[in-house]
Amino acid sequence: MTIPEGFVREIRLPQIHDPRGDLTFVEGGNHIPFDIRRVYYLYNVPVDAERGGHAHKELEQVVFALSGSFRMKIDDGHTQSEYWLRDPRKGLYINRLVWREMDSFSQGAVCMVLASQPYDESDYYRSYDAFLAATRSNRA
Ligand code: TYD
Repeated sequence: MTIPEGFVREIRLPQIHDPRGDLTFVEGGNHIPFDIRRVYYLYNVPVDAERGGHAHKELEQVVFALSGSFRMKIDDGHTQSEYWLRDPRKGLYINRLVWREMDSFSQGAVCMVLASQPYDESDYYRSYDAFLAATRSNRA
């Protein structure tokens, strides 16, 4: 199986602007390029915490900063990039076989993740070397 182009990309959600407060919505089958099977969120994150530090064998995700901001460091096995998430309308789609690390959380930041599969520890690469080996054999 080959990896489609684009390990990460921005997903832009609609915003209904209103003096009473803004509203953004996500529709499965419309805004997200997979069936949403799980939603989880990170909160009460200490500002010096580092999260992530893994890749997934099959899982695809879209990550949002619902409140506050944080940094996502992305590594596809060849190149590294980083993204600051701070706009609740803009998510970061992360394909399978992408190493991610998250840090620099602002006080009170909330990170919401939409995921293509239920939680499965056997889908994780928690070793960077194992992840690199997998990207090499996958993209050979
Ligand atoms: P992990 O994915 O390593 O968190 P992060 O990437 O945000 O740093 O998960 C941390 C712990 O939570 C780990 O023991 C697995 C557990 N977990 C679940 O039980 N269900 C889930 O949906 C997720 C995302 C994690």
